[in-house]
Amino acid sequence: MKNIEWSSLEFGYTRTDYNVRCHYKDGKWGELEVSDSEMLTIHMSSTCLHYGQEAFEGLKAFRGKDGKIRVFRRVENAKRMISSANHVMMIAPPVELFTRAVDKAIKLNEEYVPPYDSGASLYIRPLLIGVGPRMGVAPAKEYLFVVFVSPVGPYFKAGFKPVKAMLERVYDRAAPNGTGHIKVGGNYAAGMLSTHEAHERGYALSIFLDSKEKKYIDECGPANFFGIKNNTYITPSARTILPSITNDSLMTLARHLGMTVERRKIPVEELATFEEAGGCGTAAVISPVSIIDDLSTGQSIIIGSPDTAGPWSTRLYNQLRAIQYGDAPDEFGWNSIVE
Ligand SMILES: Cc1ncc(COP(=O)(O)O)c(C=O)c1O
Repeated sequence: MKNIEWSSLEFGYTRTDYNVRCHYKDGKWGELEVSDSEMLTIHMSSTCLHYGQEAFEGLKAFRGKDGKIRVFRRVENAKRMISSANHVMMIAPPVELFTRAVDKAIKLNEEYVPPYDSGASLYIRPLLIGVGPRMGVAPAKEYLFVVFVSPVGPYFKAGFKPVKAMLERVYDRAAPNGTGHIKVGGNYAAGMLSTHEAHERGYALSIFLDSKEKKYIDECGPANFFGIKNNTYITPSARTILPSITNDSLMTLARHLGMTVERRKIPVEELATFEEAGGCGTAAVISPVSIIDDLSTGQSIIIGSPDTAGPWSTRLYNQLRAIQYGDAPDEFGWNSIVE
């Protein structure tokens, strides 16, 4: 294993030894190539630079107590990249190429997979871009698929604690029939100003509302939203929301633990009725939210304790992490071992 101060790793980029790349050209994908360079050389007229032909993914691998490396639900990420690529008219890597590239990038950098007891993990970033010269607005003829990895520290340095959020009343993240449901760069650029202003005001994140009526909860920063009451896990359903693999896993676990699961519209007024709430995604699994401020009305919605995550959120968080690290049986077949 590399000589890294694992416990002081941030959730950020650390250089590793290799990345893997594959080019799509003349109507077909080439061989998977291994590179030790962090740089890409692409044509200045590439569609990814001008017209946003770009999609990415984010997933993690974990080292277990048994020393094995488990990567979490990578086939789901492969399928989501296909859905993203189709919507912005890119050629997607087939599932088999995607999973082979992910496994290879992990294996080549296995010394960077943090030790079991560090609370850290290996973040994997698959990236697909349209390349080659193109002037008019049209899909690229060539594509580059890259998978790189970086060890990342635990998302919560201070432990699993609730954060404060604000309702976003000014900016929209995604249009009703736009690209909110896919993982393309433009969605993130559209959300940056909102997050920046939330941080400036002392909030950890902003909660987006549906952009048509401004009545319903949409995304929770770069994560899905969920609320819990009466032993029921409730998460918004809308075409503007990215289908989170973490949320899907939490819904499965919630049912398994005896909760009722509802996917439906969540009106803003319902927030005050939740006993627990949070955002969920690969980076943090769950970010509990205990205060949601609506700056337009001055209303402050208090959900649960400001100091500790609620009992269901804690149970769901611990259970999912236990599966990811190989401490609990993988009952749903979510992990693949990287040999
Ligand atoms: C906008 C957005 N929503 C939700 C999620 C959570 O998705 P996942 O659980 O697959 O990481 C992410 C993170 O990938 C995201 O960027």
